[in-house]
Amino acid sequence: MARVADGADRVAWTRTNMPLLAELRREYADERPLAGRRLGMCLHVEPKTAVLVEVLLAGGCEIALTGSPATTDDGTAAYLDGLDGIEVWAANADDQAAHAAHIERILDWQPDLLLDNGADLIAGVVRRGIPVTAATEETTSGANRLKAELEGRVPFPVVVIDDSPLKRLIENTYGVGPTVVEGFMRATNLLVAATTFCVVGYGACGRGVARALRNDGASVIVVERNPVKALEAAFDGMRVLELERALPEADVVITVTGTTGVIGRSELALLRDDVLLANAGHFSEIDLEALGPGEALTVHVSRHGKVRLLGRGEMLNLTSATGNQIQVMDLGFALQARSLRELARDPARFALGPQPVPANVDDAVARGMLGALSATR
Ligand SMILES: NC(=O)c1ccc[n+]([C@@H]2O[C@H](COP(=O)([O-])OP(=O)(O)OC[C@H]3O[C@@H](n4cnc5c(N)ncnc54)[C@H](O)[C@@H]3O)[C@@H](O)[C@H]2O)c1
Repeated sequence: MARVADGADRVAWTRTNMPLLAELRREYADERPLAGRRLGMCLHVEPKTAVLVEVLLAGGCEIALTGSPATTDDGTAAYLDGLDGIEVWAANADDQAAHAAHIERILDWQPDLLLDNGADLIAGVVRRGIPVTAATEETTSGANRLKAELEGRVPFPVVVIDDSPLKRLIENTYGVGPTVVEGFMRATNLLVAATTFCVVGYGACGRGVARALRNDGASVIVVERNPVKALEAAFDGMRVLELERALPEADVVITVTGTTGVIGRSELALLRDDVLLANAGHFSEIDLEALGPGEALTVHVSRHGKVRLLGRGEMLNLTSATGNQIQVMDLGFALQARSLRELARDPARFALGPQPVPANVDDAVARGMLGALSATR
């Protein structure tokens, strides 16, 4: 059983280093923009999220919170569960079935506002016809679902935080890149230099991962299906190959495409013995069923036939490290808290369905971060 004090200590350290959220907490406490609202939340349950939760609670709402499989910090969950006004359904041991059950519990709780990550809650309220005023969506995979399976079906405004160029640059590239490498090192304790990594996907996150690996001396092969992005990788000095040619060369494969089934049965057949497989995309991009049953070698590494899986195949920077850096999430969550406040105050001002972060919000957060950074003093 995780100790509440462990979580409280980590949240306190994190809070000290999130100046943008500290300012918003003061404003939220004065203005109470979420008074009387019921906020359904799906976001990784870890210390940075806890600081955002404190801001939102200061704004007067009640919260029902869950996270994602394998990314929950149990100490943080215990800490948050002890606060007034919030119910938490999340544990590190959660698998996909447990996650789906938590989502249903939040829907049964009848939220009227959503803060989502991966669009499971948004898809759920649409499926069950639950009346919701507005939502925010945190990540690329959720944004992709809003543009595909949920297109034209969402009868309320959804501000897509990931569509902010600020978030994509600062979080997806500068946050995810180094922290995925950190997750690899913590999971395996192996060398990055002189190791051949195959990074599948060269979008905002993949570019960061490939660059961070190369900075540490790795040999990096990029697989990218969009020719413009593939060319960008080539201009960045990466080797660019088709998946079928890249996989047999790789010591380590990292998927980060925002799609699923990138590594399935036919791709497994192409891999070397003892290859290390990891994922950084929101939904696992490795077909975990195709891997077959696993035997734990360490907490973070399991053996499945001839391959080794890192971090249970879920987001490596969260399963095997502590997620994106605190300042990076201060920026991303300031976008969240400001967007939610605007949505709650005046939902009629927004169009229905997915839309970008309002420009005034992007500007305010960028200005706030410039002010907070020692580099600009
Ligand atoms: N781990 C984290 O902390 C974290 C943080 C932010 C986003 N994410 C997730 O990371 C994933 C990627 O996000 P992004 O912002 O980089 O997305 P993106 O859309 O910017 O980039 C994805 C890239 O993958 C390419 N791609 C798609 N399918 C492919 C395939 N089968 N083979 C080769 N290339 C393919 C696309 O062409 C695109 O260039 C998403 O699931 C997102 O939700 C994770």
